[in-house]
Amino acid sequence: MEAVNEPVVVLQNISKKFGGIFALNQVTFDLRNEIHSIVGHNGAGKSTLVRILMGAIQPDDGEIYLNGSPVSFDSPREAQENRISMVWQELSNFPNLTVTENLLMQRFVTKANGAINWKASHDLCKQFLQRLSLDIDPKSMMGKLSLAQQQLVEFSKALSYDPVVLILDEPTSALSFREQEILYEKIIKIKSQGVAVVFISHKLDEIMTLSDRVTVLRDGQKIFTKMGNELDKDSLVEAIVGKPSERKKEKIRNTGQRDVDSNTGLILEVKNLSLERRLEKVSFSLNKGEILGITGVSGSGISDIGKILFGIEQDYTGEISLEGHPYESLTPQDAVKQGLGYVPKDRKEEGIIPGMTVGDNIVLSTLKQIYMTGFVNNRIRDEVIYRIMDIIDLKPRNPEIAISSLSGGNQQKVVMARWISKKTRVLILDEPTRGVDVGAIGKIYSLIRDLTHQGVSVIVISSEFEEVHSVADRMLVFNKGKIVGEIKPASSVWEDAFALAIK
Ligand SMILES: Nc1ncnc2c1ncn2[C@@H]1O[C@H](COP(=O)(O)OP(=O)(O)OP(=O)(O)O)[C@@H](O)[C@H]1O
Ligand SMILES: [Mg+2]
Repeated sequence: MEAVNEPVVVLQNISKKFGGIFALNQVTFDLRNEIHSIVGHNGAGKSTLVRILMGAIQPDDGEIYLNGSPVSFDSPREAQENRISMVWQELSNFPNLTVTENLLMQRFVTKANGAINWKASHDLCKQFLQRLSLDIDPKSMMGKLSLAQQQLVEFSKALSYDPVVLILDEPTSALSFREQEILYEKIIKIKSQGVAVVFISHKLDEIMTLSDRVTVLRDGQKIFTKMGNELDKDSLVEAIVGKPSERKKEKIRNTGQRDVDSNTGLILEVKNLSLERRLEKVSFSLNKGEILGITGVSGSGISDIGKILFGIEQDYTGEISLEGHPYESLTPQDAVKQGLGYVPKDRKEEGIIPGMTVGDNIVLSTLKQIYMTGFVNNRIRDEVIYRIMDIIDLKPRNPEIAISSLSGGNQQKVVMARWISKKTRVLILDEPTRGVDVGAIGKIYSLIRDLTHQGVSVIVISSEFEEVHSVADRMLVFNKGKIVGEIKPASSVWEDAFALAIK
């Protein structure tokens, strides 16, 4: 596995700042006919680097060369025209359009009169899908497919442009083991056909098996580029998280952390929880008033924990008890009745009703109580709304405006507020700060802390290790569906957790 050929792409001394902070600082990266992986923890600058190559964002400094000539793309479309394709980290499709419409976009097969030939277009789409052995109906709506299928359709789409450079930004996070294997086979095949591949992932096992070369980024800086066969896992982990002596202790002090385990008592206990191919014999407990972090890289099974506890995922084995009594949540409604609350990862899909006002979204889950008496008591309704807007420090403090006009962070606070207005005993938050602007992240965490003072116990599920470390009383680290460690933030740094999660 040697990359002796000429570079196809060179990114030379690339720098990019966001809000005065370097997302990339003088990073040089070259790509040949190889599989070149980029690794680094959350926020290391991986996506920023490839987004710059794609023309999605412009660098502040540095040059880009394609086959030896300087280039600069104003948009991903321009990169695409130069046969550089990317599968984006966040799904970038149109859920209300068909697979064919999503995949072909401006490239439909047309009839002599210029009208779209749908039959031929679907057939062409089918051909593209078959290259990845995908058995997906081209006529189905994109939004109806599983996340994994959507990701694979996007992969087919990237390939359909016949790229010379293919960039995959965490392409396997939503895939099952079998689907991952198919993807790896395809990636290796694509490389053998002369395509240069950039592969971004947190999964070090797949990095080690797939990569000809590996580049490590940390806090916007390149640590090294090395041949895959020169690397062992321990040295890779160390490059990603830094040597213990290099870690900045002061930045990770967890200020409010408390020792709650011994005296408050258990609220929730989970024993031998398993879910086929996703979770294996997971056991843990949650103390009253505790903030428990459940951390792991995407695809480690952490989200499944929340879905099981809230009755969304029911095919598990194992035992759960709530305050000493057996607990089985057959539906989310059951879960709510028993005092659980849940804020899903994708609040746009499940958390908020975009067409409704802020006030209506706040009272959504208390409507029953408010309207129970048979008539609408507006005074109580308003009392609830204003009380909650105060608790969550909502900006602007106006219940009449549309929820969709709020910033991401304020929307998230409203989603959480729905559970404050109920008698929630255990609140489960899945990636509570995803898509939330930096300024609001701290507010969300202080809201979480306030909740525990009211007796709520909180489970924070997140792949943002540094953040969870700053708020949790205890962190459980997941790796491939198993708990691989328990970290006390007071006596550790967040990199300790991350190192366990990727090993
Ligand atoms: N559009 C943006 N505006 C402001 N800051 C940004 C923007 N995009 C990225 N950043 C910041 O730049 C840094 C690098 O982000 P980037 O998305 O490149 O990280 P990453 O290595 O891809 O992380 P992950 O593994 O979480 O995907 C982060 O601190 C991030 O918050
Ligand atoms: Mg990224």
